[in-house]
Amino acid sequence: MSHYVFDNSAEETGSRFNALEATYDPASRAALARTGVGAGWTCLEIGGGGGSLGRWLAETVGPTGQVSVTDVEPQWMDSREQPENVQLLQHDIAHDSLPEREFDLIHARLVLVHVPERRQVLPRLVQALRPGGWLVLEEFDCGWIPVLTAPSSAATDLFTRVHAGLMRLMESAGGDPLWGRKVVQAMADAGLEQMSTTVFAQAWSGQSAGIDLHRANTEQLRDELLAGGLSEQELCAFWDLLQNPAFAVTSYPLLSAAGKRAAA
Ligand SMILES: C[S@@+](CC[C@H](N)C(=O)[O-])C[C@H]1O[C@@H](n2cnc3c(N)ncnc32)[C@H](O)[C@@H]1O
Repeated sequence: MSHYVFDNSAEETGSRFNALEATYDPASRAALARTGVGAGWTCLEIGGGGGSLGRWLAETVGPTGQVSVTDVEPQWMDSREQPENVQLLQHDIAHDSLPEREFDLIHARLVLVHVPERRQVLPRLVQALRPGGWLVLEEFDCGWIPVLTAPSSAATDLFTRVHAGLMRLMESAGGDPLWGRKVVQAMADAGLEQMSTTVFAQAWSGQSAGIDLHRANTEQLRDELLAGGLSEQELCAFWDLLQNPAFAVTSYPLLSAAGKRAAA
């Protein structure tokens, strides 16, 4: 089974999905649209999370299309009504089987970054595409999030320290914070063609919808961060900083990489 560091049963899950969808859905929809996805396509949305992109795909492919939305912990989407052409499945992309030559489009956002077996998964995703089908992987590069404005240099240091603690926890669960800068080469190595990539980032100021991702992630892993050496006082000061409009940090850059399986 997967050891996803942010399990979806925690109460911070809704805040995480809201922040991701508010910040990144427009860029993700644009990346998906560039594949030409349209009426009648058969799609696989892996690790669907809050479900917004699965629903968008369902609308885009219409009643003659089909979208399979998976998640290792699908309870969040399960509690919401799904469009008729969405099939929701509990599925671990690292260990559960996939059909071959089935999908016109496979998409995953911020899933393989957490999956230790990410490089073994890639060839299986390619096999699951129909010849001529598209794989779109969207991943963070967590190694480039400069602080843009801060009330003091101590505040910048605090942000950097807490974020480093969060990244250590992600890595110890098998995540790769720098997977975003590696995914394009990995997709090319898996034999995909017509590769194209875009990168999206924005500034997140205190109290913005996006910066709430940092609050949700650190609140959920509060105990582990304390065990890792941060103090209660540091964490409280960090959460105060995320509410301070004088603070701004670059969002995680999202790399949206697309490649096509060779036509038969
Ligand atoms: C950071 S969230 C991203 C959610 C959504 N894709 C988005 O970008 O808004 C990662 C999602 O991947 C799911 N996940 C983690 N490991 C997985 C695995 N091995 N197989 C399938 N889903 C997985 C998690 O349960 C979670 O819903």
